[in-house]
Amino acid sequence: MLANAAGAFRTMPLGDWMDWEKTVAEQRLRANLSPSGTSRGVVIASPQRENPDYYFHWVRDAALVMDVVLDLSLKDHSWEVFLHEFRDFSRANQLTHAPTGLGEPKFHVDGAPFTGPWGRPQNDGPALRAHALIRWAHIKLSRGKEISALLPVILTDLDYVSAHWREPSFDVWEEEKADHFFTRLSQWQALSSGAALADLVGDSSRAFTYRLEARHLGSELQNFWNRSRNQLDVSRNHREGLNYKHSQLDTAVLIAVLRTGSTLFAVQDPRVASTVTKLENVFHEIYPINHRAEAPGLALGRYPEDKYSGSGFEQGNPWVLCTLAAAEYYYKLASLRSSPALIEKGDQYMARVKYHANPDGSLSEQMDRHSGFMTSARDLTWSYAAFLTAYSARAEARRALLVRHSKEKP
Ligand code: NOJ
Ligand code: NOJ
Repeated sequence: MLANAAGAFRTMPLGDWMDWEKTVAEQRLRANLSPSGTSRGVVIASPQRENPDYYFHWVRDAALVMDVVLDLSLKDHSWEVFLHEFRDFSRANQLTHAPTGLGEPKFHVDGAPFTGPWGRPQNDGPALRAHALIRWAHIKLSRGKEISALLPVILTDLDYVSAHWREPSFDVWEEEKADHFFTRLSQWQALSSGAALADLVGDSSRAFTYRLEARHLGSELQNFWNRSRNQLDVSRNHREGLNYKHSQLDTAVLIAVLRTGSTLFAVQDPRVASTVTKLENVFHEIYPINHRAEAPGLALGRYPEDKYSGSGFEQGNPWVLCTLAAAEYYYKLASLRSSPALIEKGDQYMARVKYHANPDGSLSEQMDRHSGFMTSARDLTWSYAAFLTAYSARAEARRALLVRHSKEKP
């Protein structure tokens, strides 16, 4: 099977590959949820334990992955158990004494906080976790189920976000302490949707506070628009850590827009569009792998000045989840505009991921900027989550097109 697939997948039509890759992504993502030897509820970032060692529960990765597990559970109940376990493991994390409390970025697989040197706090974590759990709470409530074990986890995160969002923290890439677009937009989304949930459960005082803080946050966020550069800057007010991101261009901006689904910076916002165009241009230019004639589409990385290779700081590479973010972006635009051409743009990015993927469908964190081979952490859980959200966005865009056609030709 593997040997056959190895040769076959290169020539497999893109649509077939994506359908097959979907099953691979689901299986491999599932294998990273509470694998044997870990506490129930753990989401390992990757099974790789060396160079880099990603065998930890990262709050951010776990939250983004569980948001996808929630979608999967709506179609297949066998995923539900992971949501319950994640809820309980997250509660235990919250109650554990960690160096930076709720802002602690990662935990050992037995639930103990990681206490070695690290970029901390990372305040996107509690916001993203609240966002996923709030969605789950709404689904439970709409089915007449109770949320008594879930609510404390959500409110603890939201109280933290509401009290601490003004403080600088390390970014999504764990490198720089500053004020970040990604973190702030995640916080805005969590507080906004949290206010609605607080209302629903009759906690009007929390609803009031969350709404008030979300309003302040919302106006703060407008400052990330850099008019002279025609882009959304990724960070402001640098405090410590890495300081060579001179372009202020970062795919994290797009990922924040996609993952929060925020109305403040929506997919169709022209400020997002010009930022994406600049990212495409710069990554086209700097990655040798983007100059290969036979390679479809483009491979995108985190930010142009990136040096992190997974095992060291000698070479920044394109990332699977960044390239998939571009695919998802065009699919979402395609849905809004019922545009086949935009689906095709998304497909070019998917084709690029197919081009670099391992023959067995497994996806790592990065793709070598020269050779194109998968590199850094193998089976990165977040890569699979990114594939699945892009895949769903494509299905949605195709449905939108069908609806348009059926309206045009009654
Ligand atoms: C690992 C992080 O996750 C990566 O993004 C970062 O570049 C290095 N540590 C250095 O902080
Ligand atoms: C490095 C990434 O920069 C960070 O965002 C992620 O949380 C860790 N790897 C674990 O996947």
